[in-house]
Amino acid sequence: MKSLICYFSTTGNTELACRYIGKMIPGAAFEFLDITRGSVPDLGTYDLVGFATFADFLGPSKRMRDFIQELPQQKQKPAFVFNTYGNFNGGTLRK
Ligand SMILES: Cc1cc2nc3c(=O)[nH]c(=O)nc-3n(C[C@H](O)[C@H](O)[C@H](O)COP(=O)(O)O)c2cc1C
Repeated sequence: MKSLICYFSTTGNTELACRYIGKMIPGAAFEFLDITRGSVPDLGTYDLVGFATFADFLGPSKRMRDFIQELPQQKQKPAFVFNTYGNFNGGTLRK
């Protein structure tokens, strides 16, 4: 299995959570993509794709929303989202 987590992390909390998940689920063979550094990934080469960001005024940051908008539409691709937050997550996960 080959997996990818695309993350946006400004102070490191979200990246730390990504790395922890990668360590705890070795069978998923996670790779990590910092969306501020990498280019649009070829999602077709991954069995599972995650998106991780932080609550940014009660929602996902614009940077992550723009990144997701740029991705080509996928079919039947297992995916998941998660986020870190300080106190109140608001609509971050839902959005
Ligand atoms: C500009 C900004 C907006 C934030 N908005 C929220 C928020 O609405 N709710 C919340 O619980 N935490 C909020 N936080 C706290 C971050 O979500 C939290 O510290 C997060 O873990 C930071 O992730 P990172 O270290 O990966 O950047 C905000 C932080 C910043 C810098």
